[in-house]
Formats: sequence, C-alpha cells, structure tokens
Amino acid sequence: MEFADVVVEITEDGSNTLRSLQFDSTYHSHHGAFEESEFVFIHNGLDTLPESSSNVVKILEIGFGSGLNALLAWQWAKKTGKNVEYVGIEAFPVNPSSLVNFESSILNANNDFQALHASSWNELHQTPNFNFIKVLSTWPDTKLSNDFDVVFFDAFSPDVQPEMWNYNSLKASADVLKLGGIWVTYCAKGEVRRTMNSLGFDAQRLPGPPNKRHILHAIKTSIAVPS
Ligand SMILES: C[S@@+](CC[C@H](N)C(=O)[O-])C[C@H]1O[C@@H](n2cnc3c(N)ncnc32)[C@H](O)[C@@H]1O
Repeated sequence: MEFADVVVEITEDGSNTLRSLQFDSTYHSHHGAFEESEFVFIHNGLDTLPESSSNVVKILEIGFGSGLNALLAWQWAKKTGKNVEYVGIEAFPVNPSSLVNFESSILNANNDFQALHASSWNELHQTPNFNFIKVLSTWPDTKLSNDFDVVFFDAFSPDVQPEMWNYNSLKASADVLKLGGIWVTYCAKGEVRRTMNSLGFDAQRLPGPPNKRHILHAIKTSIAVPS
C-alpha cells in the first residue's frame, strides 16, 4: 500500500494535526485541530440531529485522514448511547507509524485511536457503540447506499483541491443522504453553499470555531433532480 507523505504539526490549542507534503496543506486548522473537529463535525454536525432521530446514526466522512473526526464520532457515540455506523473514505492513507506522536495530545483517546488505525481497510469492524469501515477509494468514484444521516465533508480546501468541491463531487455527497440528513463542512465558500442549495439543501453559514468566521451546515430538504 502506498502511504501519504505527512509530518505531524502542533496547532494552537495544543492538539496535533498532519501536514500533507503532497498537497502542502494541513489536515485541520492550525488554530486548533481538536477544537475545529469538535466544533464543526460534532457540535454543528452530530449534535444538530433531531432528538427524535433514530438510535442508529450512519455517518459518511469524505477524507478519513488522521482519524481525528472518526475518533470524536466514536466518543460521541459512547457519550450519547447512539449506535454509530461510520464509513470513512480515503484515497491517500496515512501510515500508522506516522501517527506515533499524534494522539498523545487527544483527550480520552484510550485504545480507540490505535484501533482505528490498526484495523484493516475495506472491512467492517464492530464495537459496542461504533461500527466502522475505512474504504480505500477515490472520491467521488465510490459507490455507496443512500441512507446516511450525516456527511462530514472534510476534503482539503477548494484552493488546494478544487475538484473535490465541484458540482459532481458535492452532488455525490448529497445523494448519499436521507431526507432530513445533515451535511457539514469547515468551508463556508459562497459557491459551495449555492451548489448545496441547488441540490435540494437548506445550506446556512454558521459562526465558526475560534479564528474562523463561518462554517457550512446544510439540511437535505428535497431530492435534487438527477443531472
Ligand atoms: C482535510 S484532510 C481530512 C482530515 C480528516 N478528516 C481527519 O480528521 O484527519 C483531507 C483528506 O482527504 C483525503 N483525500 C484527498 N483527496 C481524496 C479523494 N479524491 N478521495 C478520498 N480522499 C481524499 C486526504 O488524503 C486527506 O486525508
């Protein structure tokens, strides 16, 4: 398997991120990796699911990366008692040996972080509240069911990877969600918001984590016309 070329970097909240040497981009905000992930994907993603929603929450993450968002989703499952089914898509996997100095800074990581990385690709792994599968695949060329509750859209930024934010890629991520499903990202670009609205979503800019003005949160309100 070919691994991503990465180095560990510390961020302003004391947690670590990775820098991709291929894309010359960090996996999280340099203002705070943990803070950003928790704020964007947990508080403004999972925590915005309606209280009446099912006890089983299906999450698709585009860009498994360091596994930080997956780990936080696992912690959320333990805290809330929900049963999370997590699918993480990754085209350029990180070698677990690159992560030796990564997770010491993450709160309550226990053995879950190692389990996420030690587990095989393309196979389902089952634990009491969190079943997960890491799919080695290039987005958007990934076939998935269309019954997800939440999409964590966590590609590198549009400046670095514009093709991940084009209509086809956004539409593919929109198509996998149920009606009422939630699509969330750290990127608040107007063009992305307008595309999500055109795909049948109510997409809103929300206040961002410290040092970031906005993020994007979108609820699927109708099924878009196929293109
Ligand atoms: C911003 S980082 C994601 C950070 C990750 N969610 C985390 O918690 O560490 C973007 C990720 O998308 C992956 N990626 C880039 N292009 C991709 C593609 N076409 N398909 C799938 N993954 C891709 C990168 O390798 C990287 O892991």
